[in-house]
Amino acid sequence: MRIDIHPILQFDREREISFLYNGNKIKAFEGETIASALHAAGIKVLSHSIKLNRPRGFFCGIGKCSSCLMRVNGVPNVRTCITPVEDGMVVESDVQQLPSAEFPGSNKEDISVDILVVGAGPAGISAAIEAGKRGVSVLLVDENPMLGGQLIKQTHKFFGSRKERAGTRGIKIAEELEEQVRELEKNGKVKILPGTSVFGYYGGGSSHMLGAANKMSNVMYHINAKKVIFACGAQENMLSFPGNDLPGVYGAGGVQTLMNVYGIKPGKRVLMIGAGNVGLIVSYQLLQAGVEVDRVVEAMPRIGGYSVHAAKLRRNGVPIYTSHSVKEVYGKDRVEGAIVAKLDENWNFVEGSEEDVKCDTVCLAVGLTPSARLLFQAGVKRDYIPEAGGYVAIHNMEMETSVKGIYVAGDSSGIEEASTAMLEGKIAGLSASISLTGRDSSTTAKMEEYIKTLEEMRRGPFGSKAREAKRKILEEASNEGI
Ligand SMILES: Cc1cc2nc3c(=O)[nH]c(=O)nc-3n(C[C@H](O)[C@H](O)[C@H](O)COP(=O)(O)OP(=O)(O)OC[C@H]3O[C@@H](n4cnc5c(N)ncnc54)[C@H](O)[C@@H]3O)c2cc1C
Ligand code: FES
Repeated sequence: MRIDIHPILQFDREREISFLYNGNKIKAFEGETIASALHAAGIKVLSHSIKLNRPRGFFCGIGKCSSCLMRVNGVPNVRTCITPVEDGMVVESDVQQLPSAEFPGSNKEDISVDILVVGAGPAGISAAIEAGKRGVSVLLVDENPMLGGQLIKQTHKFFGSRKERAGTRGIKIAEELEEQVRELEKNGKVKILPGTSVFGYYGGGSSHMLGAANKMSNVMYHINAKKVIFACGAQENMLSFPGNDLPGVYGAGGVQTLMNVYGIKPGKRVLMIGAGNVGLIVSYQLLQAGVEVDRVVEAMPRIGGYSVHAAKLRRNGVPIYTSHSVKEVYGKDRVEGAIVAKLDENWNFVEGSEEDVKCDTVCLAVGLTPSARLLFQAGVKRDYIPEAGGYVAIHNMEMETSVKGIYVAGDSSGIEEASTAMLEGKIAGLSASISLTGRDSSTTAKMEEYIKTLEEMRRGPFGSKAREAKRKILEEASNEGI
């Protein structure tokens, strides 16, 4: 399943290693995660559900859904999609026993910092760069071993504003952002902890206490931060249909991770659900990776994504069926096919319109929900804003929430785009720095410039949803005196 030839990416695999999976030796390359190495070996069932013993496989690929939990070196419930594989590792798919190893968090480290940034996607890195340039100490933490968030798998040239790097590939933007923040790290202005999950918020006042853990180095961090910026991104939405938990049903981001980060095909033939930009772009990326796309089905009566992306698919012979959806996915312990059918104007399946699609992969590109659990644990005021993708932290124009010293940026604050995530990150980084060092004419002018650019980016028909989401959030913030 490993991709050798790709029109954009070159997979220079690192040292070959091996590990044990349920007693069998599996080949891997350093730098791969456990779940991706298992996929490359054709192993899709990673664990079983506790109650009904149903097979479970990779879904999100970014540590958000728990469907890849396995026992690693005796430690249960390890998210194998974000855990790098190591030579000689022992991996087991049975997670139902008590741990046979000691909990590996015995090395403790205390860190006190001016600003903690949780999440090193475009929003978090931009926040860290902005704050790091302003003479405050910054800690940037990400649970992924690589920096860049969703950008590290986006091979297409970005749409959006030229001012915010439209026309540049996402992977290139990630490289540029990483270079800039590594430069600040070299100068001692930003400390970076990749592969480290922030798992809890433990109280605040004049400063905020959080816990984080790095499972590779077995270090548990007690973090004390004067200000915290949450830039945790989003998680993929699930659709409700029989068979939606079978291994082989993936979120679009999970498919991108396997394919574009680790160079591993998710399967041989894919049914794509959703014809928004994500569904269209990922379908094209699947073709580039040498995977067949049977068709794209879209529940809405029209295609939601840009026509340029739809045209590319059609030119490659991939049909797009609007007013259609998936009724059922079937298979014994992995996807073997799916039933799709037409939807009427009341969103009911039209009887007799069913078609059996032979595929081994079903990819869901049906939207994202902001990742805001840590913010809610910290007690910020929240509300359900459909245009923002779900429950979000109410925040003001400068990205501060109802809890003093806690900020939010990027998809965590409402689903949008990398271009706006970077600007929100800059605003949050500037705003948190100002609260520590004071406001002057230069920071006031910078803030005005960022806010104006952000507003400009949301103009036009494609920004209407984000505009409405932010209008509601800001109105509520103003009513709450935030
Ligand atoms: C297929 C596809 C195509 C897209 N195309 C475009 C496009 O053309 N133009 C555009 O502007 N946008 C595009 N986007 C959207 C864009 O990628 C996202 O809006 C953007 O990445 C959001 O940035 P972020 O920093 O908020 O979140 P993310 O990029 O998701 O980063 C969040 C980071 O937080 C980390 N994290 C989360 N929780 C924790 C925790 N508890 N502890 C430590 N770390 C944590 C995660 O590991 C992750 O690295 C596309 C998205 C997809 C899926
Ligand atoms: S948490 Fe690993 S696939 Fe979702």
